[in-house]
Amino acid sequence: MMVLFPCMAQGHIIPFLALAQHMEQKGYAITFVNTPLNIKKLNKSIPPVSNNIKFVEIPFNSSDHGLPPDTQNSDSLPYYLIPSLLKACPSLKVPFRNLLSNLIQEDGGEKPVCVVSDMFFGWSADVAHEFGISHAIFSTSGGFGMACFYSEWVNLLHKLLSANDVECMLPDFPEAGNFHVTQLSVAGYMQGEDDPFTNFLSENFSAWANSDGLLLNTVEKLDKTATMYFQRKLGIPVWSIGPLLLSEEDRSRTGSQSTISPERCIQWLDQKEPNSVIYISFGSQTTISASQMEKLAKALDASHKNFIWVVRPPLGFDINTEFMLQDWLPEGFLQSVQDQERGLIVKKWAPQVEILAHRSVSAFISHCGWNSVLESLKNGVPLIGWPMYADQFYNAKWLVEEVGVCVEAARGTNFEIKEEDIMEKIELVMGENEKGKEIRRKACEIKEIMRDALRDDGDYKGFSVKAMEGFFIAALQGRERATAVSQSK
Ligand SMILES: *[C@@H]1O[C@H](CO)[C@@H](O)[C@H](O)[C@H]1NC(C)=O
Ligand SMILES: *[C@@H]1O[C@H](CO)[C@@H](O)[C@H](O)[C@H]1NC(C)=O
Ligand SMILES: *[C@@H]1O[C@H](CO)[C@@H](O)[C@H](O)[C@H]1NC(C)=O
Repeated sequence: MMVLFPCMAQGHIIPFLALAQHMEQKGYAITFVNTPLNIKKLNKSIPPVSNNIKFVEIPFNSSDHGLPPDTQNSDSLPYYLIPSLLKACPSLKVPFRNLLSNLIQEDGGEKPVCVVSDMFFGWSADVAHEFGISHAIFSTSGGFGMACFYSEWVNLLHKLLSANDVECMLPDFPEAGNFHVTQLSVAGYMQGEDDPFTNFLSENFSAWANSDGLLLNTVEKLDKTATMYFQRKLGIPVWSIGPLLLSEEDRSRTGSQSTISPERCIQWLDQKEPNSVIYISFGSQTTISASQMEKLAKALDASHKNFIWVVRPPLGFDINTEFMLQDWLPEGFLQSVQDQERGLIVKKWAPQVEILAHRSVSAFISHCGWNSVLESLKNGVPLIGWPMYADQFYNAKWLVEEVGVCVEAARGTNFEIKEEDIMEKIELVMGENEKGKEIRRKACEIKEIMRDALRDDGDYKGFSVKAMEGFFIAALQGRERATAVSQSK
């Protein structure tokens, strides 16, 4: 049995579910741990074929941690409360110990093969080891992006910079190159005193070194720099096992319900020329400012390109509330879109997996959250990056500089964007110019690399398939060693 324990955030639960499905197919039973409200939702939603995946609740009450009642997922919290949710997580340590103890008892003394926990749950390594169970961290972010984010926080980079610095390097990761301060997620903390959130990240990330291995949802061939960094930094094995993604159907079951049916989207896309549509979405947790939305709308209008745009309320408004499109979009825009049949505007959430897989889609304006990046690369769709926080800045940097399938159009949410800039980037990626052709050629190449990594037809095993097998072997050996040690005591 494998015990999987993601943080209470949709962007983490979804890749952990993909990992659970993958391990189940390899013959492992899975115990999937989370807090009560998340488990209730999952238990209802996951199809009955997965009867080897058992959902188990760990007690948690948000009211005990200064959070609104019954909020157990970052998706149901405003952005400013997310640090409070993270800080509440180490309180799960005692309940998690009890849970492992119960699982072992129920199984007649048989121990799980491995505990695979979230990047924010480094403390769970010690708990697993108390029972002689091996432990791995599964990072739901990219390799390069996570390595930069990790480095930035364990080194408390903001304390090493002075107010005049505009560029810097990461002290323990020179291979990552130069960063502009606007690419640093610590930038917001530069003038501040020690705050509990920065301490949380630096301490809890440091605890990764107590784990027995690191699983990355990426492809070794594209993301070697990251593997090198983590091996050097942590001294533990690193396995790149991606891209692990949920199907559209399974994802919609987890609660990210689209406001439009996949069929309707496909029907709309079918009527468009191949490679003629831009897809725009900023993920489940980010949004842009009202004035940026207006400029983006004008740029789309002026570009004369087809588009599908997932619209959410702008910055400063609850992204989960109901709203009217005309409240946020420029006057006449909706009418113009309708008249020209050039655009499909979707509220809140669209069937992204199916959209990106459609041949009519040729570019993705994205916040560069990792799940979106993987879905885009897997389908050979080039990106127009608009990173907004955390690892997204580094994902964008990696896509532009190392992978060569992206141009950055904007960075962050609190500044004015120019209509012309956005139009220029769209033209660059979609148009008949050398750079655009190169980006599109590269995107096709990456798509093949991604597919190859997961290929497993007996004789041939892709990189990620081999890495996964390496992880299983190490986990089983880890358990044997631990059992031998406890028997000799
Ligand atoms: C999940 O559903 C099954 C079958 O309906 C039920 O037996 C089990 O108790 C549920 N588990 C939780 C944690 O709700
Ligand atoms: C959570 O704690 C609050 C305050 O202590 C309590 O009123 C509430 O009933 C608890 N919720 C659950 C589900 O136990
Ligand atoms: C994680 O952060 C919390 C809050 O700052 C702290 O209490 C806890 O000790 C940290 N965990 C580890 C393993 O350092």
